[in-house]
Amino acid sequence: MEPTTSKEEQVPLDELIVGDRPLWLEGPPHDTFKRLRRECPVHFTSHMPEYPEEAGFWSVTLADDVHTVSKDWETYSSGVGGITALTNAILPLELQQGMFIAMDPPKHDRLKALFQRGFTPKRIAEHEDEIRAITTGVLDGLEGRERCDLVEDVAQPVVSRVIGSFMGVPPADDIIWARLMNAAIGAGDPDVTPEGASVVMERDVPEIFERCRKLIEERRENPTDDLTSVLVHAELDGQGLEEHEIVMGFFLLMAAGNDSTKATYCSGMRALMEDPEQRKMVLDDPALVPQAVEESLRMFPAFAHFRRTATHDCVLNGQEIREGDKVVMWYVSSNRDESRFEDPDRFDLRRTTEHQAFGAGGRHFCLGTALARLELRILLEETFKRYPGIAIDGKPEHVESPFANQLKTLPVKLAP
Ligand code: HEM
Repeated sequence: MEPTTSKEEQVPLDELIVGDRPLWLEGPPHDTFKRLRRECPVHFTSHMPEYPEEAGFWSVTLADDVHTVSKDWETYSSGVGGITALTNAILPLELQQGMFIAMDPPKHDRLKALFQRGFTPKRIAEHEDEIRAITTGVLDGLEGRERCDLVEDVAQPVVSRVIGSFMGVPPADDIIWARLMNAAIGAGDPDVTPEGASVVMERDVPEIFERCRKLIEERRENPTDDLTSVLVHAELDGQGLEEHEIVMGFFLLMAAGNDSTKATYCSGMRALMEDPEQRKMVLDDPALVPQAVEESLRMFPAFAHFRRTATHDCVLNGQEIREGDKVVMWYVSSNRDESRFEDPDRFDLRRTTEHQAFGAGGRHFCLGTALARLELRILLEETFKRYPGIAIDGKPEHVESPFANQLKTLPVKLAP
């Protein structure tokens, strides 16, 4: 086994704090996860120094174990305790529990079925031309520029308009929604919320709800073909959605749609710009773009983790877990599990093994996979078509977060 010499290696395992901010300043601590996969695949972090009121949590780091947790919703609940390692860090638990991502069956299944109507493969495929037009429109806006920031100038405006048009948000409001959603997801990073994470709850969340209620009201009176109209008028067994269910679902979709695709596109572009051989493969054969998308999802899952809570005492991979314990599935680790992926830290377009960036196949498997894959394919295709010589031009910076795995800046030179 290859020796690891990182500083974290020196910390005894029972003192290791996996979510500790200093470990995450430059992205996920891959050396730490490699060590855990090898020495202690189900590891307990006893406390978080910055959040003394939060209970500790189990870290699940191997792909097989993540799969076990993900599939067994009766043992590992999404509904009873919150969906991130820190229960109340951003949204208080009661608010999270209004979103179906934080519910268990049967309530989860009913709501997801209603939302799924807006995400059928046919409905998504119908948007291909529109997504391409949005992307080329944003790239047209760079005409004459030699440099730009791929996060701010390309990814953000594209993903905001795509999810905005899906949901029925007017284009003029894209910038406001992007700010609100980035604050909600990246809260805690000093650049994202310089005033501290608490402003998100005090200032941004009420604004999000207010804007959302207004849109729902408009669609009740004047339905269009956007997703908000679908949700406002959807019925299952004669029963429609209540207003707070639509509001929380809207919030969930705007958050997921604004952030995740942007994160994956930027990290994938960075990897391709850093690896001339892989980039050349994509340029020579654009049919490989879908593989570049999958490899970007594997290496840089937009959400570093999601969490469950044990509903009774149980044993996971030989480790006893108590009722009420937090169980965190680290996709940033399981997607680099050596038992599934050879040379897992290498970006390799030839891989075919399934990753867990969208979850590990359980009931909460991502609703937006088809949309995310389509958007990512178009973004990569159009960027490389227009700027085959695009190159990194400065130091990319990572959001400081053990949840949002994304770059906040990616400065590039557009033409060589
Ligand atoms: C690269 C893009 C994306 C990634 C990596 C991603 C990843 C994930 C993950 C890991 C989960 C949770 C799985 C679990 O807890 O088991 C999830 C759930 C979800 N995602 Fe995505 N997602 C992406 C894009 C999107 C988009 C574009 C949308 C919609 C606009 C979306 C909507 C959702 C929803 C609604 C859920 C909750 C599903 C449920 O609880 O049943 N996602 N996603």
